[in-house]
Amino acid sequence: MIRDTYKAIIALLLVTGYAGYSIHIYTDLPQASGTVDAQVEKGKKLWQSYNCIACHQVYGLGGYLGPDLTNTYSLKGAAYIRAFLESGTNVMPNFNLSNEEMDALTAYMKDIDKTGNAAPSSFKLHLNGTIEQ
Ligand code: HEC
Repeated sequence: MIRDTYKAIIALLLVTGYAGYSIHIYTDLPQASGTVDAQVEKGKKLWQSYNCIACHQVYGLGGYLGPDLTNTYSLKGAAYIRAFLESGTNVMPNFNLSNEEMDALTAYMKDIDKTGNAAPSSFKLHLNGTIEQ
């Protein structure tokens, strides 16, 4: 009888803890600010249609033949990105992109650079499981 009471108390504590934690996490979500630029949107569609993700990662996810491109824009710059898009290499294909397509892909890469960090090991981890960059 006493054991059943303990079980009920423990179950109640677990359910309350789970519910409290969920409410805490989901009521304090960061809000996205601003709208997505048309050029960035076009770049994202090109990124998908040329399947760049087959070889590259963004935010650490994707193929592993080429490097993660999340922060290439700030680390190496627009001219560097453009050179790869214009000519390809002996491992990365040359997609024969138009100037507009290269501009849009570069704008997309500038945008992902603002929104993510490819080196999550540098993040500060809080006790409640959230992170801070
Ligand atoms: C078949 C695989 C493959 C595909 C598809 C591919 N890439 Fe690459 N990419 C690579 C490889 C491999 C490298 C590294 C280049 C090298 O060392 O020759 C690279 C390098 C790059 C770089 C330079 C990154 C750096 O930090 O040096 C950029 C920018 C880039 N790719 C953009 C793109 C974009 C945008 C697309 C889609 C339009 C794309 N890639 C599609 C394989 C690919």
